[in-house]
Amino acid sequence: MSFLNRLKKRPLGPSGFGFLATAEQVTEGVDLTGKVVFITGVNSGLGQETMRVLSKRGAHIIGAARTLDKATEACAAVDGPTTPVACELSDLSSVAACASTVRQSGQSIDVLVCNAGIMALPELQQKDGVELQFMTNHLGHFLLVNKLLDSLAPGARVVILSSGAHFAAPEKGIEFDNLSGERDYEGLKFYGQSKLANILFAKELTRRYGDRLTANALHPGIILTNLGRHMKGVLMMVMSLRLVTEFKSVEQGAATTCYLAANPGAEGVSGKYYDNSNEAEPLPHANDAAMASKLWEVSEQLVAGH
Ligand SMILES: NC(=O)c1ccc[n+]([C@@H]2O[C@H](COP(=O)([O-])OP(=O)(O)OC[C@H]3O[C@@H](n4cnc5c(N)ncnc54)[C@H](OP(=O)(O)O)[C@@H]3O)[C@@H](O)[C@H]2O)c1
Repeated sequence: MSFLNRLKKRPLGPSGFGFLATAEQVTEGVDLTGKVVFITGVNSGLGQETMRVLSKRGAHIIGAARTLDKATEACAAVDGPTTPVACELSDLSSVAACASTVRQSGQSIDVLVCNAGIMALPELQQKDGVELQFMTNHLGHFLLVNKLLDSLAPGARVVILSSGAHFAAPEKGIEFDNLSGERDYEGLKFYGQSKLANILFAKELTRRYGDRLTANALHPGIILTNLGRHMKGVLMMVMSLRLVTEFKSVEQGAATTCYLAANPGAEGVSGKYYDNSNEAEPLPHANDAAMASKLWEVSEQLVAGH
């Protein structure tokens, strides 16, 4: 492993892990028996692998997908205990209903992984007047986490999938006066905005509730999953430029999530942005406390009534 790392010029970070680490490696020796882990988007890609590995470590998985059928099918693929739930993140009523079901079950959640997402929609799409990537990637998870706050165990870990693509966010950060996306829509820019929101959300969660939970955001790497369905042309170009070594496998792509979710090295860490299972520096806007606070207030207004 270390030889391979040197060969690929991929140094290990202070956590002891780097680019090549897999989700299984970063959770080796971790016993999650008796712990409850809620994951959104368990039927595909990184969410599926995160569920597989955290279940293998003994966790009871509450596995969310857009429909109960999809969640049930995905959960059936792991051997350990699971509770499938429906959660359509672009439908705030569905999110609220999901949270209500979980609250009524009385389960206490030790880890909440906000994983599901969509990327680079070529044409502007909206839900309730809000651009769909912001709605799905940020607002749906914002409502879910807030509705589940009282179901979180003391010291629970909230892990939020952001992306290095947050660097593609609009120049001034979150465009609060354009959350409808109607001005100058570009798929990647609005994906970047939603992923910037993910980091700001982790920071503001820490500021508001850091005495009872930890919240961190992460870039999982570049992984060929269904996420890239709208970006085939770009991916082909990257591959033809021989940048293929920049890609991670799905097993590697779920590592940083699983590190933050379960590794003892992330105990007590909060309000950070991670990459390759180590702390990393996000876009300066992601450290803007005023922007994080405003995002929270605007998000509260947008989900009001649910
Ligand atoms: N892959 C990468 O290179 C990469 C890079 C940076 C960040 N990320 C982030 O990693 C996360 C996981 O992505 P992935 O690569 O695993 O993608 P994926 O294979 O496309 O999985 C995405 C998951 O999100 C679910 N989802 C999408 N829209 C939803 C909605 N409205 N409500 C509920 N669930 C919804 C999908 O469900 P359906 O299958 O039903 O659509 C699927 O389960 C995302 O947040 C993404 O932004 C990925």
